[in-house]
Amino acid sequence: MAQQEDVFKKLVSHSKEYGFVFQSSEIYDGLSAVYDYGQNGVELKNNIKKYWWESMTLLNENVVGIDSAIFMHPTIWKASGHVDAFNDPLIDNKDSKKRYRADVLIEDQIAKFDDKINKEVEKAAKKYGDAFDEAQYRSTNPRVLEHAAKREELHTRFAKALNDNNLDDLRQIILDYDIVCPISGTKNWTEVRQFNLMFSTEMGSTSDGSMKVYLRPETAQGIFVNYLNVQKTGRMKIPFGIAQIGKAFRNEIVARQFIFRMREFEQMEMQFFVRPGEELEWFKKWKETRLKWHKALGLGDQKYRFHDHEKLAHYANAATDIEFEMPFGFKEVEGIHSRTNFDLSSHEKYSGKKLQYFDPETKESYVPYVIETSIGVDRMFLSVLSAAYTEEVLENGETRVVLKLPAALAPIKVAVMPLTKKDGFPEKARQIIDDLKFDLKCQYDEKDSIGKRYRRQDAIGTPFCVTVDHQTLEDNTVTLRYRDTMEQERVGIADLKNIICDQVSMKTLLKKVAE
Ligand code: GAP
Repeated sequence: MAQQEDVFKKLVSHSKEYGFVFQSSEIYDGLSAVYDYGQNGVELKNNIKKYWWESMTLLNENVVGIDSAIFMHPTIWKASGHVDAFNDPLIDNKDSKKRYRADVLIEDQIAKFDDKINKEVEKAAKKYGDAFDEAQYRSTNPRVLEHAAKREELHTRFAKALNDNNLDDLRQIILDYDIVCPISGTKNWTEVRQFNLMFSTEMGSTSDGSMKVYLRPETAQGIFVNYLNVQKTGRMKIPFGIAQIGKAFRNEIVARQFIFRMREFEQMEMQFFVRPGEELEWFKKWKETRLKWHKALGLGDQKYRFHDHEKLAHYANAATDIEFEMPFGFKEVEGIHSRTNFDLSSHEKYSGKKLQYFDPETKESYVPYVIETSIGVDRMFLSVLSAAYTEEVLENGETRVVLKLPAALAPIKVAVMPLTKKDGFPEKARQIIDDLKFDLKCQYDEKDSIGKRYRRQDAIGTPFCVTVDHQTLEDNTVTLRYRDTMEQERVGIADLKNIICDQVSMKTLLKKVAE
């Protein structure tokens, strides 16, 4: 665990050192849980968005995109339930004056039981070696069963308190389980209060006053309220989807783990409108499609798992998360939800406008059901970066830090380097870039030794380095170096574009998704 925390710390400092992610307003000591993307970060982020957008809108004829405004009519958030129910239960420690999410404190306590169980299992696995039957051990060992029973008891009580919105019992659980503030170490807790996560501001300043508006906490509602516009103007037939990428804002209380939980972040959401009764079939299809999208990146199939929700939101009839193994454990990156016709029906009610679809096949009008896929760009960024971050000990004993990014997502695709700054090498290198730059993001680098330049490119995940040397001037060949294997080969300048494009193009990646 300590080792993983260490990796995470290194990742955060690497992100800063190499221009991926900066703390927002850093020269003013930063703004908590808000981050800026640097020169390499923005390229990686844009590539992630491109990958998502194209896999939605190019690979699916029946998915189109929109870009709706961040500000929306405030009644939308009443209809969606966010004004009344988009809350976190908060609790303060009176000694440290620190504020916590009561549910997170309890979840951490549940995780402690899981840790105890896992430790028992690990110990036994070591002891019994190959003969160890984990499933049997988990279901029979008295100590494991005791921890599991305690965990279950807490989990059941916690789920009930959340379901019943019973804030007193949430507090009582914290007291009963001796949960202390990590800072003060005391149990001197306040009451638990609900806190709405939406940011609000004022719009307009007329003599009639101004209107309270919200910064959207999800992009999805912009899709719902435009569903009929798109359906009619795009002559869309059910089933069809609307995709959107955009900023969302949440006044997160427990803002931690770098860009995992931010106050301003970006979502990539797609709402897929289907016939009532067919939603669970589509839910299953989108689960498969989305997992395939993730796995096509080649970050390691074992790093993903589904977490099906036991407790469903009142409007959902199925929900799952795609979790990714971050340096701090398996965490949600994407949610896939079967939202029934809740949102559209609610908007019908609040707006007084019909949002029905006339189905030419069944000759019926209905409010469509919706499957939603919702992924955070920043969390995706973090998962890609954490899987790519590698420290390798080389034969000469040196350590190289390399970001083994999927080539199509890498910020820079190829670095072109003259062996020295003279003898016409720089001019030749520039010529190569001038030829490649229309297809590939290139970087020119002539400073320091070639070895140092390779390390710099490794650290930002550049899949290819091209070196111009004496032979280049004689026969128009260059050295092409591969990031992951560090192998080098001699290739003709005329072949460079094809070799590199074949490996780094979005098309290559999209084909894997479509396979
Ligand atoms: N429209 C459904 C929706 O917004 P959600 O589970 O609240 O569902 C979807 O959010 C995704 O948005 C999450 O899986 C996560 O990737 C991302 N996300 C949510 N809150 C976030 C935050 N505070 N910081 C970064 N990403 C966040």
